[in-house]
Amino acid sequence: MKVTDEESESLSAFFSRNSYLSGRYDDDGSFAQLNSRLLSLPGGSDANRLFYLALPPTIYKHVSTNIRTHCMSSRGWSRVIVEKPFGRDLQSSQELSAHLSSLFSEDQIYRIDHYLGKEMVQNLMVIRFGNRIFGPIWNRNSVACVVLTFKEPFATQGHGGYFDDFGIIRDVMQNHLLQILCLVAMEKPASTSPDDVRDEKVKVLKCIAPVTGSDVVLGQYVGDPEGEGQSKLGYLDDPTVPAGSCTPTFATAVLYVQNERWDGVPFILRCGKALNERKAEVRLQFTDVPGDIFAERCQRNELVLRVQPDEAIYLKMMTKRPGVYFSPEETELDLTYRSRYKNVKLPDAYERLILDVFCGNQMHFVRSDELREAWRIFTPLLHQMEEENKPPIPYTYGSRGPGEADDLMKRVGFHYEGKYKWVQPHTA
Ligand code: BG6
Repeated sequence: MKVTDEESESLSAFFSRNSYLSGRYDDDGSFAQLNSRLLSLPGGSDANRLFYLALPPTIYKHVSTNIRTHCMSSRGWSRVIVEKPFGRDLQSSQELSAHLSSLFSEDQIYRIDHYLGKEMVQNLMVIRFGNRIFGPIWNRNSVACVVLTFKEPFATQGHGGYFDDFGIIRDVMQNHLLQILCLVAMEKPASTSPDDVRDEKVKVLKCIAPVTGSDVVLGQYVGDPEGEGQSKLGYLDDPTVPAGSCTPTFATAVLYVQNERWDGVPFILRCGKALNERKAEVRLQFTDVPGDIFAERCQRNELVLRVQPDEAIYLKMMTKRPGVYFSPEETELDLTYRSRYKNVKLPDAYERLILDVFCGNQMHFVRSDELREAWRIFTPLLHQMEEENKPPIPYTYGSRGPGEADDLMKRVGFHYEGKYKWVQPHTA
């Protein structure tokens, strides 16, 4: 990344304030030392303290207990950011939550899900509740299905050891995609206060039954013999992955929000590594126009919020083919950020979220009851997968994932023609 002179000055000023203290996670003395170091810094006992824990689950308990015992600010605030994994299933997550809540109050705990810091994910609330045009069609009468996608073109090579313990459902689906689902499905909150928003998200989760095996397709990538470099290697070729591992690197799951607004509408969550492209998006596919007069030449409308790369919102719609024709043609209304907001630098998701922690705003952080509900939805499936230990369906590195996932989407009602491709329209 190119750094300007001004940025370089700020960076040096920032780094000159950093210092490092080594110690042991489970050692009281180390944390007492940390406390003395903090007291010696400007602000001393008046200063606020923010602890960022990005740690393996086995260490959380020691560190959080030691922070509570030795390192709380005596006159300022103390807040703790915790990174996933928040446990491995409902039970372990509940244990961790009980432990943290015995030490800190909920308003001191910031469970980070960095997808909640992404521009388009935050935009969902404004798009939905700041416009007149979407509200009336945002329900089962007009929406045929909702597809939430996370695709990465690279594999787990190198950190397969970590990944193997979790798999794609715990890594991406149970947190990032489910959080997005909540923002798409929730009712309008009473206000934009963090607890009003999170109350609505929890209500959505409570209406979702645990996912069952028949609503899921699991995949694991294999090397592409024709590919280059890394793509020749499959998941099981990674020496850090245990031989014969059945951990999925791809999953598509169908969830239903059983409430008055969404009953019967499939929410399709799909995510995977080593796929054909990098893309995260929210897609609402609308129902067919009733009473067709165009001899079935109209495609369904779709509203797409492209989370990354190239943030955009576009609405796929039919228009008259321009000229002497009178036939419908598919096109889009397009709001591509790179052209519409040329000079706006979008902050990184973590930048925004850490700023929120400084400001004490928990709107984009996961509350403990949200977490519990999220694990409730996925735990039976995760346990079943572990018991059965069935090899997932192989898919080739660089492909769209297993064809069975496309079949599942079709079965629940998603129409995919495969003809239309959104092209970043302003690149010329
Ligand atoms: C993390 C997952 O939470 O999100 C990673 O653990 C994944 O596996 C990453 O690669 C994706 O984040 P982003 O911001 O690059 O889309």
